[in-house]
Amino acid sequence: MAAFTASGSVLRGIGARFSSSELFTCRQCLRNRGYAGRPFSNRASTPLSSQQSERLNSYISTLRSKLRTSFIPRKALLSTATTAQPAKEGVAKIKSSFFPDVSSKSVAYWLLGSAVSVFGIVIFGGLTRLTESGLSITEWRPVTGSLPPMNNEDWEAEFTKYRSSPEYKILNPNMNLDEFKSIYYMEWIHRLWGRFVGMSFVIPAVYFVARKKVSKPMALRLAGISGLIGFQGFIGWWMVKSGLKDDLFAPGSHPRVSQYRLTAHLAAAFTCYVAMLWNGLAILRSHRLLAKPAAGIYELKDLKHPKLALFRRSVAGLTLLVFITAMSGALVAGLDAGLIYNEFPYMGNGLTPPKAELFDGKYSRHSDHSDLWWRNMLENPSLVQLDHRILATTTFTAVMALWAYSKTPSMKKLLPRVAKKGVHGVVAFTFVQVALGISTLIYLVPTHLASTHQAGSLFLLTWTLVLGSRVWHPSRTAKLLQMIVRNKTRPITTSAVNAATK
Ligand code: HEM
Repeated sequence: MAAFTASGSVLRGIGARFSSSELFTCRQCLRNRGYAGRPFSNRASTPLSSQQSERLNSYISTLRSKLRTSFIPRKALLSTATTAQPAKEGVAKIKSSFFPDVSSKSVAYWLLGSAVSVFGIVIFGGLTRLTESGLSITEWRPVTGSLPPMNNEDWEAEFTKYRSSPEYKILNPNMNLDEFKSIYYMEWIHRLWGRFVGMSFVIPAVYFVARKKVSKPMALRLAGISGLIGFQGFIGWWMVKSGLKDDLFAPGSHPRVSQYRLTAHLAAAFTCYVAMLWNGLAILRSHRLLAKPAAGIYELKDLKHPKLALFRRSVAGLTLLVFITAMSGALVAGLDAGLIYNEFPYMGNGLTPPKAELFDGKYSRHSDHSDLWWRNMLENPSLVQLDHRILATTTFTAVMALWAYSKTPSMKKLLPRVAKKGVHGVVAFTFVQVALGISTLIYLVPTHLASTHQAGSLFLLTWTLVLGSRVWHPSRTAKLLQMIVRNKTRPITTSAVNAATK
């Protein structure tokens, strides 16, 4: 609090200096140039000399460090705003708030760390599935399940429960206790990691909000992500339950979890990952832009170019396409549809299996076959694999189209350098991902390739998000930048700001 009051008075002092004509040029110089006595705004349209530009930038940096924008209290901004300039430009309309305008950098690092943890659990979850360990724990005990069986008696009790499951009876009737322990530990670590993801997110989130380290929109997003993590635990158990159902004892059935629930579980994990990564990157970007307000305004002005809107939308569309392709991959994994048609690009005698096989009446549950189309799309392994191939090919083509678009003369001129690099990253990850997918299929889904293919989908998604974050126009940060620059350098025109940033 004391620090705030102190910084407030410093800022008020700075604000007063800002409103005075003595800020950038000494009185003597002004007199020599015939400026003295003229109102500031009259000379404002005169381009700044390089010395003035330097002073402007160094002033803004000083202001920036004084404001400590990692934690810009609105009050501080307002106190200078009202001293420096009366309630114009809409600034004074902003009411004082519990939340700072910009979330702290530590929040960004924690979000990115949480995204890494979610990345890890997704890969570990994939390994749990590929080693067929996921159905080894037949109960859901969110609190007491944190500890593994501690003695032989406990192990025997757990093994007995597993022995009554369809998976043991049909697939693993000869499994011994030691083999059971290894699959049990896989699932147990996966669940423990899930608890860790939840605790290491929710507790710091509460702390950061209480310590006023997050902006209001970010606080809402953190609440949303926390809810999603909790829901993910529930989806996980809902998925496991589908693999323990009694009807899986029926002759000819293959005990495994529902492909729908597996996909829902993966979709929730990917969504958590995307939210953590995107928000972490957004906070760091805001800090970078606010560190040099004049340059930040200039950068965002360039991004507002109407021609970049189509590029931005294309990146958003591509991100969605990668997400959908990944979810169709989860359906392939859930149905073990990677164990048929182990060739590429052919599927049997042609590029696709025969129509009768793709739209097989046995998957329909309605007498009028009204569900024939969608049930085959989601439940028939042949068509599910074909769906994934088509979506993967579409993703590949879309990435190549984006790359070609980024090479057009107008995009070459307008795209920031980091965005051009981002496009190259997306292209590279797409090639790797497609190669991994084809290898996984051809080699009959070996664990190491399938797991790397899954990691590849997250890397590709990460890179499309990084590219998106480099071309996105953060409107909130843009407003903050204008607040800082306008209220501190109001008498200086855009041309002067531009001159200062050259
Ligand atoms: C942009 C391209 C691609 C993306 C984003 C993608 C994504 C994914 C994802 C997320 C999975 C689920 C992994 C799991 O849950 O364990 C998967 C599975 C699979 N994908 Fe892809 N994939 C792509 C391209 C391909 C291609 C071109 C092929 C081959 C034709 C392919 C073949 C497979 C197979 C066989 C599986 C099942 C693996 C298993 O059973 O674990 N994928 N894919």
